[in-house]
Amino acid sequence: MFTNDSSPLITSSVHDGVLRLSLNRPDKKNALTLGMYEVLIDHITDADRDDAVSVLMIRGEGGNFTAGNDLQDFLQNPPVDESAPVFRFMYALSMFKKPLVAAVDGVAVGIGTTMLLHCDLVYAAPDARFMTPFVNLGLNPEAGSSYLLPLLAGYHRAAGLLMLGEPFSAVKAKQIGLVNEIVTVSTVDDYALRQAHKLASRPQASLMLTKRLLKEGHVEMIQKTISKEALILIDRLGSPEAKAAFEAILKRK
Ligand code: COA
Repeated sequence: MFTNDSSPLITSSVHDGVLRLSLNRPDKKNALTLGMYEVLIDHITDADRDDAVSVLMIRGEGGNFTAGNDLQDFLQNPPVDESAPVFRFMYALSMFKKPLVAAVDGVAVGIGTTMLLHCDLVYAAPDARFMTPFVNLGLNPEAGSSYLLPLLAGYHRAAGLLMLGEPFSAVKAKQIGLVNEIVTVSTVDDYALRQAHKLASRPQASLMLTKRLLKEGHVEMIQKTISKEALILIDRLGSPEAKAAFEAILKRK
């Protein structure tokens, strides 16, 4: 069965057990608005309960994964508590019980990079460019990345990425373990979709158990870290450093 629905900025299709979500705001490099987070949260929550979905795949339209949180939204509707869509999205993703596959091309900025820490399989195009520019924006790491990135990459590499906030390549992303494979044999979307279908053809209960076993030792720390980072982020968004950084970006425009 093949079904399409959707809010225009997120499109979705289900085919043979794979729910494919596409970030669809190419003119803004798929920057994520409050509304987009809400749609994503609904999809993730429904997919967890829906027996017709075994695997969730996420990708971006137009040659980019996502430029991260919409900066205008951060300025005009900053999160005031943990019920903000951006934080509920992080919690939903981090607690999703089924396999998550990501296909990354173009830019993956901010949450575009940190959400990958919650995915099980990540495939990147050779041109993919990752960035965690939180410090440069006067902010702090989010989505559990201050716990998950050192765990994945080692302390010093994580500190380099999170403190300097410089773009890094698909090759570096693979070196630190953020990416499973750099895809050169076909498009990253096609390849990731094939891998997602491969997973969907496996016994689902075993897949979910495997994911649970892989993550079990970290679940509590991940949730605690997302929460701690969220409270700091809310505070940082009102800081003079963040205001100056955001104003500088808007002036550049
Ligand atoms: N929020 C809102 N709009 C964004 C955006 C974001 N995070 N990222 C890109 N856009 C918009 C740009 O404002 C521009 O809009 P315009 O055409 O109306 O002027 C459009 O997307 C294209 O972006 P542009 O900057 O021209 O593309 P680029 O290829 O030169 O650079 C980026 C791409 C991602 C490197 C650059 O846009 C950028 O640094 N964006 C901010 C990323 C960010 O800080 N995210 C938040 C992290 S917490």
